[in-house]
Amino acid sequence: MKKILLLNGPNLNLLGTREPEIYGNTTLDELVESLARRFPDVHFDHFQSNCEGALVDRLHAAWREGGYAGVVLNAGAYTHTSVALRDAIAAVGGMDVVEVHLSNVHRREEFRHRSLISAVCRGVICGFGTESYALAVAALVR
Ligand code: DQA
Repeated sequence: MKKILLLNGPNLNLLGTREPEIYGNTTLDELVESLARRFPDVHFDHFQSNCEGALVDRLHAAWREGGYAGVVLNAGAYTHTSVALRDAIAAVGGMDVVEVHLSNVHRREEFRHRSLISAVCRGVICGFGTESYALAVAALVR
């Protein structure tokens, strides 16, 4: 069975109630459950943290553990700020990381147009709401 790590950064624990006009009404638990239903042949590990270092640690742990088809990473605001997360993704080269965003960050404020992590990710998917995650999973398990 293929194994994928869903890694979600700051404020994504508030999905469902957080700015629903931008991020929708689906909670993070519902999102993970729907992915599990949609991809019954994939085992999902899921981790969310509001702390930059905890996300770095989880990525390292997945890499050490091995056997992952890849990581679906919504780094939230750390996308735009975190050199540490970028370096962690570069350090675990060989493990595919797909950057995802619910919203189309390029249609939003200028500070969201820059991603520090895109260049070290396998690919980037944004703007399709929860479907962004499903597209990333589909790409990783192909
Ligand atoms: C986000 C976009 C980021 O700019 C923002 O800081 C988030 C969520 C998205 O999924 O659209 O927290 O990553």
